[in-house]
Amino acid sequence: MKPLPEIVARLKSHAQNAASKSYSPYSKFKVGAAVIGEKGEIFTGCNVENASYGLTQCAERNAIGAAIAGGLHAGTLLTLLVYTPGEQVCSPCGACRQVMHEMMAEESQVISCCDVDGYKTWTKKEYLPDPFVSDRTWNIA
Ligand code: THU
Repeated sequence: MKPLPEIVARLKSHAQNAASKSYSPYSKFKVGAAVIGEKGEIFTGCNVENASYGLTQCAERNAIGAAIAGGLHAGTLLTLLVYTPGEQVCSPCGACRQVMHEMMAEESQVISCCDVDGYKTWTKKEYLPDPFVSDRTWNIA
């Protein structure tokens, strides 16, 4: 795998391009995301809002959807980067974290960046310690 700063730089430029296409007339908050697969394939998404606010689609989930439609398999996505213009990084919402958890690989990372240098990264355990999973079992012992 390529060194992280190289992957971040590459994904960031894709995510910036996606953010520039954001449809966010209500919040005016542009978000772009880019995700990379095992063979270096990159897919992007931006947030798409609606007059019925609750129908808004987040950039992260749109990028993941594009990756799945493009042929990547659930549980194999390696790095997902979120970009928001400005000087503060955006923290992925809870719904996106649940979807990321199912689609990202075990040793994957989620990264958030903005227009200042540096970025924040999360592992799966960090962004969603107690995911809802399909067998719904929970060991309370
Ligand atoms: N948004 C995302 O695209 N990703 C997130 O992780 C958080 C929020 C979008 C949804 C909405 O269009 C705008 O940001 C403000 O909430």
